[in-house]
Amino acid sequence: MAFIVFEGLDHSGKSTLIQSVSKELKKRGKEFVITREPGGTDLGEKIRETVLNPYDNPISPETEILLISASRRDHIEKVIIPSLEAGKWVICDRFWPSTSAFQGAGRGLPAEQVKWLNHFTVPQDITPDLWILLDMPVSEKEKRSQMQGHSSDRFEMQDRSFHQRVREHYLFLAENDKTSWFILNALLSPEELTSQVIEELSKRKWLNS
Ligand code: TMP
Repeated sequence: MAFIVFEGLDHSGKSTLIQSVSKELKKRGKEFVITREPGGTDLGEKIRETVLNPYDNPISPETEILLISASRRDHIEKVIIPSLEAGKWVICDRFWPSTSAFQGAGRGLPAEQVKWLNHFTVPQDITPDLWILLDMPVSEKEKRSQMQGHSSDRFEMQDRSFHQRVREHYLFLAENDKTSWFILNALLSPEELTSQVIEELSKRKWLNS
């Protein structure tokens, strides 16, 4: 059993990779839950809608981080802890590094306050076993977002420098804790990315039954 979090810029391919990795886990008879933030619970999904919707009333970065943290706490209590206690793998699309990257580095909220709030929100013993960062240049995010052509949420519509700060912050976190983070080149094919993740899980001896 392992608690694995996927992080990266929007359009980095997290959802596709999560689906293909979980297929591999299923083949190996592993029990898992796939979940996401903001979201993952009824309350969390309502918060997600509000936080991502650019047509709602504008909200300040302070309100934004509090809403996202509330969603996270509810998610931890109702999904993450019960699943881990039941012996299931938890595969989570984003966790607190997204808050440091988007609300801290991106929105410019003071790093110390963001860190404090993350500590307040996440119980000390709820620590993922592995963070997987899908890294790519911001120009690739822009290209993919144009190709997909769907309407932007409140983060996607931020300018290039916002996303550049987000990317740099992720790399800073990952490079400072190489045993817990696994950095992937998001430009690789989905098949290659899946096999690199499976190889990493197997290196960590998590796939042995
Ligand atoms: P995604 O589900 O497509 O990854 O989109 C979720 C968006 O929410 C993404 O743009 C990043 C943003 N987000 C934050 O700004 N802070 C957070 O803590 C989390 C979890 C997500």
